[in-house]
Amino acid sequence: MQTNHQVYFNSATSMEKVADASIHLVLTSPPYPMIAMWDKGFCHQDRQIEKSLAAHKGLDAFEGMHRILDQVWQEVYRVLVPGGIVCINIGDATRKVGTHFVLYPNHSRIVNAMQALGFSVLPEILWRKQTNAPNKFMGSGMLPVGSYVTLEHEYILVFRKGGLRAFTTTADKELRHKSAYFWEERNQWFSDIWVDLKGTTQKLTKNSVRARSGAFPFELPYRLINMFSVQNDLVLDPFMGIGTTAQAAAVAGRNSLGFEIEKMFIDDIKNSLQQAVIISNDRINKRVSDHLAFVADRLTRKKVLKYTNRHYGFPVITRQETGIMFPLLDKIDNTGAARFRCDYRFSAKNEFCATFEQVTSKSTPQKPFSQPEKPFTKPKKRKAVQESLF
Ligand SMILES: C[S@@+](CC[C@H](N)C(=O)[O-])C[C@H]1O[C@@H](n2cnc3c(N)ncnc32)[C@H](O)[C@@H]1O
Repeated sequence: MQTNHQVYFNSATSMEKVADASIHLVLTSPPYPMIAMWDKGFCHQDRQIEKSLAAHKGLDAFEGMHRILDQVWQEVYRVLVPGGIVCINIGDATRKVGTHFVLYPNHSRIVNAMQALGFSVLPEILWRKQTNAPNKFMGSGMLPVGSYVTLEHEYILVFRKGGLRAFTTTADKELRHKSAYFWEERNQWFSDIWVDLKGTTQKLTKNSVRARSGAFPFELPYRLINMFSVQNDLVLDPFMGIGTTAQAAAVAGRNSLGFEIEKMFIDDIKNSLQQAVIISNDRINKRVSDHLAFVADRLTRKKVLKYTNRHYGFPVITRQETGIMFPLLDKIDNTGAARFRCDYRFSAKNEFCATFEQVTSKSTPQKPFSQPEKPFTKPKKRKAVQESLF
């Protein structure tokens, strides 16, 4: 299996290089309107914004910045396939422009714009980020009325173009089943509040680079890509930054396209993609070892695991997980100025079996789990009650 990753150093306000209805998932984090670090970039794109800020017309500047983003959302609608999903990570801004301190509600401005374009609004995720910043307590301190609650969350807004995406051919259905996630991952990922997205993979890029570029942690796009696309899909990030979405797409076995207005990010993007090989091994091993630990825990608690994964032989809770198969990234080649190709192998069963045996030997004597046809349960004296699944 191979995937391709292409970067365009152009403004995403016009994505004519991307064909209509060719993208399966859009996943992005735009520059946040009214957050000072993005002022300069917005002002370069529309000089009127600079004038509004200088004249302390905060709402005009806010609107001007969103009008730039609106052009991108319009393009996103055009390039998305029917049934395709858009995930937008955005935070609101608090700021004093002139005399008044106010909140600029970026998330609701974007929801309104997307709805006006024809997108269906789906339930969103709150990303809870705790801050130790010195301005955590804003306003009049311990004296009532003039204090403000601290913003310690961002949004991941979710939209769909049209109705449910169809998977009609046998090949489509097979890819969808290979791309399924574990039952316990679903319970965590589809929660509407994400508390901790930090992972070891973040450490590969310097914190200063991530802060300068406003990068999100790897785990954010990785989860969303697994939740809302299938292997071999094409994922677009119109505000690419240092390429965390492309990195996560490569790890998850999806193709990607990215737009970025700042050419200086090219080396960071290359770096992100090169790191994807190490991350792929780490993240997939962690998914499997977490699953095996989950299995061992259930067996200890005498719970039934009714199904067996066809490719690896380990037990799973639902029939939908029996086809899960992870593409492991073998190598990445730089095939053009801003183009990359990834080669994958599908991991062998015995890579994971050893881990499974280590995990289960601590909890219970097991029959070898290479006898997958029967429901997989821990030997038990009394009748187990199967938990309701879906
Ligand atoms: C919040 S950052 C994205 C960070 C990214 N998610 C990552 O993890 O690296 C927003 C990016 O959008 C870029 N940008 C701003 N306006 C743009 C436009 N019109 N077209 C394309 N990129 C733009 C900025 O240069 C910045 O790198």
